Amino acid sequence: MLQVERITKRFGGFVALREVSFTVSEGEIVGLIGPNGSGKTTLFNVISGTLPATAGRVLLQGEEITHLLPNAICQRGIARTFQIPRPFKVLTTVENVMLGAAFGKKRTLSPEEARARAEHYLQMVGLPIDGKMWPDELTVVDLKRLEIARALATEPRLLLVDEALGGLHHSEMAEATEMLKRIRDELGITIVWVEHIMSALMRVVDRVMVLHHGEKIAEGSPQEVANNPQVIDAYLGERFLAS
Ligand SMILES: Nc1ncnc2c1ncn2[C@@H]1O[C@H](COP(=O)(O)OP(=O)(O)OP(=O)(O)O)[C@@H](O)[C@H]1O
Ligand SMILES: [Mg+2]
Repeated sequence: MLQVERITKRFGGFVALREVSFTVSEGEIVGLIGPNGSGKTTLFNVISGTLPATAGRVLLQGEEITHLLPNAICQRGIARTFQIPRPFKVLTTVENVMLGAAFGKKRTLSPEEARARAEHYLQMVGLPIDGKMWPDELTVVDLKRLEIARALATEPRLLLVDEALGGLHHSEMAEATEMLKRIRDELGITIVWVEHIMSALMRVVDRVMVLHHGEKIAEGSPQEVANNPQVIDAYLGERFLAS
């Protein structure tokens, strides 16, 4: 479904991503891990068109999307969440999700249709359907849910999720990972998931990819990656092995 070919991203003289290549198959949940500053969010920014790549190509179902604008990439079927939630603060929570529904695909929905769809996805992520609720009233955890609802409302084929579990309690974390599974199983949406909470990530993903200083250093099953000495050294640490 997704082919990322030798993506490089420079910020001035700093190389945030160096010739990163990988593929994602339809129906997979792929985990993307790596230390702080290793380039995970930058990779999402490049795939979703938020930042232009310096070099390399991104293809969605065989078609190059590298130079398209974020809205065009979204309309082709890639939605993303933001690590630091970015709601439209002048809109209610329902309207935030309606916006995804109304502009995600290249067809116009009536406000009633967009609202119905927004309510459906708010329910799916466990947020109240309250037409008078504003993003300012939500906790960070709920803002992350709002990010996912707004992304889902665009009806993507591929969802890029940037750290959805930060700040959650243990039981909330289990609920959130179940939700991502349901998104894949019931909606048939392919997922790439950035997450620092390994215990949750490793339970759900089919495959894991590891970035370190902007380079892909490993890729494989959760088991393979967890036992890879380079990954333990760069990211997981010896304590992960012991646990
Ligand atoms: N717009 C930008 N301008 C300049 N440097 C940037 C920009 N965005 C990211 N960087 C730098 O690129 C590197 C990778 O950042 P990125 O946010 O992709 O890391 P990350 O893997 O998502 O980290 P974290 O786990 O902390 O979220 C960092 O050194 C960061 O400071
Ligand atoms: Mg990040």
